[in-house]
Amino acid sequence: MERNRILNTDLSGEDVASEGSLRPNTLKEYIGQEKVKKNLKIFIDAAKMRGEPLDHVLLYGPPGLGKTTLARIIAYDMGTTLKSVSGPAIEHPGEMLGVINKLSNGDVLFIDEIHRLDRQVEEAMYSAMEDFSADIIIGKGETSRPIHLKLPRITLVGATTRAGMLTAPLRDRFGVVNRLEFYTDQELQTIVKRSAELLEVSIDAEGAMEIGRRSRGTPRLANRLLKRVRDYAQVRYDGAITLPVAREALNLLDIDTFGLDATDRKILEMMMRTFGGRPVGLDTLAVSIGEDSGTLEDVYEPFLIQRGLIKRTPRGRALTALAYEHMGVPVPEDIY
Ligand code: ADE
Repeated sequence: MERNRILNTDLSGEDVASEGSLRPNTLKEYIGQEKVKKNLKIFIDAAKMRGEPLDHVLLYGPPGLGKTTLARIIAYDMGTTLKSVSGPAIEHPGEMLGVINKLSNGDVLFIDEIHRLDRQVEEAMYSAMEDFSADIIIGKGETSRPIHLKLPRITLVGATTRAGMLTAPLRDRFGVVNRLEFYTDQELQTIVKRSAELLEVSIDAEGAMEIGRRSRGTPRLANRLLKRVRDYAQVRYDGAITLPVAREALNLLDIDTFGLDATDRKILEMMMRTFGGRPVGLDTLAVSIGEDSGTLEDVYEPFLIQRGLIKRTPRGRALTALAYEHMGVPVPEDIY
């Protein structure tokens, strides 16, 4: 279906070009995810003290919360090199082993969407992660023979939006497992102020808060909205972002005060009108809004739950009173 570009948490071309310059390089510069940072700092410091590579790290949570950024920071802090690949793009075990074999001891291999690895590629990862080796067959037919390949001692950083989709043998091989949470409005305000400084845009505290509040708890969106509001401030005003300027620009972009996009609102409306506020199963809801149920579960639902607009019940997803109030619809007396 047509996706609302501005609130889509996928990386866009513009993000790829500019996220690099806005991304923090060290844990110190990284705002939010306090628990994850505290954990990582201890494990990184301990590995450095022992002169060993860091244990494998699994990062999971909704898109746009900083999984790639953290992988970069781990490599930077460990003083090693980062190699990034997309899980589903690697089709054969040999391809993956080739990537690993080119790395040096201590390097970080970042595998995005690791839950979508090809099964045979995944199986090859088990001994690569555990023993830093691989048993492969070379040659064909009668001349084929098995060889034991020694691989560099790398740190694998795996990222997934769905930890539940990982097989147990793969999940068990990660020594460090961290879940990324949505950012608070204050954290996003700080990120927006930091990015504005790097982009040399003038912004006041209220303007930064307004952008933060409407960013779906997601730094990737906060940075994208900041750039669009900057454009608006430049063309309509003197370039400075204040609360009224941010409000006007964000209203024009059709982002509501909770940071909900068109799909979020469609989900709430569908639950209100078509299903009369009764609990509805995830798959039924996905079909009715024309979304893939995985996307609904990984991208939309976590934020709507976090904002207290929908809740999980034994009989399906149900609306809260807040959802009715937010959509300007009277709360039914027999609300589930
Ligand atoms: N830019 C994007 N995410 C960030 C974060 N968590 N901290 C600082 N800057 C960021």
